[in-house]
Amino acid sequence: MAKSRSSFVCQSCGAVSTRWQGRCDACGEWNTIVEEITDSGVGAGPKSAKANGRPANLVPLSGETESAARVVTGLAELDRVTGGGFVMGSALLVGGDPGIGKSTLLLQAAAALANQGRRVVYVSGEEAVAQVRLRAQRLGLGEANVLLAAETNVEIILATLESGPAPDLVIIDSIQTLWTDRVDSAPGTVTQVRTSAQALTRFAKKSGAAVVLVGHVTKDGQIAGPRVVEHMVDAVLYFEGDTSHTFRILRGVKNRYGATDEIGVFAMTELGLEQVANPSALFLDQRDEGAAGSAVFAGMEGTRPILIEIQALVAPSPLGTPRRAVVGWDSSRLSMVLAVLETRCGVRIGANDIYLNVAGGLKINEPAADLAVAAALISSLTSSPLPSDSVYFGEISLAGGVRPVVHGSLRLREAQKLGFKSVSTGRLSNADRNSGLDVSEFTALSELVGRIAANGKPREPERDEW
Ligand code: TYD
Ligand code: MG
Repeated sequence: MAKSRSSFVCQSCGAVSTRWQGRCDACGEWNTIVEEITDSGVGAGPKSAKANGRPANLVPLSGETESAARVVTGLAELDRVTGGGFVMGSALLVGGDPGIGKSTLLLQAAAALANQGRRVVYVSGEEAVAQVRLRAQRLGLGEANVLLAAETNVEIILATLESGPAPDLVIIDSIQTLWTDRVDSAPGTVTQVRTSAQALTRFAKKSGAAVVLVGHVTKDGQIAGPRVVEHMVDAVLYFEGDTSHTFRILRGVKNRYGATDEIGVFAMTELGLEQVANPSALFLDQRDEGAAGSAVFAGMEGTRPILIEIQALVAPSPLGTPRRAVVGWDSSRLSMVLAVLETRCGVRIGANDIYLNVAGGLKINEPAADLAVAAALISSLTSSPLPSDSVYFGEISLAGGVRPVVHGSLRLREAQKLGFKSVSTGRLSNADRNSGLDVSEFTALSELVGRIAANGKPREPERDEW
């Protein structure tokens, strides 16, 4: 029998060292190193596989191709993110925070495929069969012909899958609960997750089934046993959202068979996840029209335009160091916009408390939101509501200029579709200028500030400090 070897594996980044230490050299995390016993090295391959020096076939790059066969779920928002359905013979990872709705989404996808007559196996390592059944009944999917198993051992799962006719889709919920006989460490450790994912990915390639692995994300946003799984699978999707809001976004971050800038939008309801074909309407619902400090940003999520309300509150600060609170945007980006307003536009804003909120719980990463943020700030500072039928987008430079951004025409079309009448932005192309909206193009931020402030009421005199 081969001698067991132990190695020390960081549970955060997967780095391997030869001895235990309190802090991982690779990622700097403390107390993440765990001893793991393997019989032939970490992440050991199959014991029987021998390479024995056989040469591989070399083929020309130009050659026959066949487009990947896909199983289309019919859930349009999901199919959009996968690039047109799950690819047969591929492995896909769906990551997300616990409780965000991964199991619900995949159960709905499983039922949709089973109803098309596909053979779908749902392996739950977290919930008992009765719990999954109960959920399916609550979702109105109790009659769907999905095959269930509550199992966590990889060898048993593979034996089960190989015993019947080949499945079209296999869902493993979740990869962190699996364990394999091949390695000795506890379920959920990097070695177990990696070895289990490897075995299931191999099964996908061999059997031609699409295998979906569910993975929980740790609190700092990484899939536990993190990149080790991401690089093994063909596609990685993240399911994100804020559990205190209803909407959820499915985002592609890696896809060997399609684009990665697609998103799918869902709303969590009592009857499961509903697809949201028109996200802008969802995010603008219950907008504070006519309130000072509210601006509508014409943003992009991947290839889709989305209109989002940005709310700002600028209030005199009783503190020596004024407060800054930002939800849904980058706080250093806010500091930059404030500095530009202060130094390039002569706006005295820095001594105030400033609160910025992206309505609906969405997170915006685009610099194109700068102009909408600046408009909301000035509107709140001068107590002048912005026109409620106006949208804003544009990047602000440190010199105080307004830069044009990409996808201008998509943003304008979305605004027009939702009944907006005017737009404030940087320079547009000739075609976009004639979009039918009333266009105000700004090259300097100070022009926009002047325009908003001109409509404002003078602020109440500030009370004296005591
Ligand atoms: P779940 O799919 O179990 O999340 P995950 O697998 O990502 O951990 O979803 C859990 C949450 O979704 C739970 O808090 C309740 C909510 N939920 C609904 O609001 N409506 C529903 O129809 C279902 C099934 C769940
Ligand atoms: Mg779950």
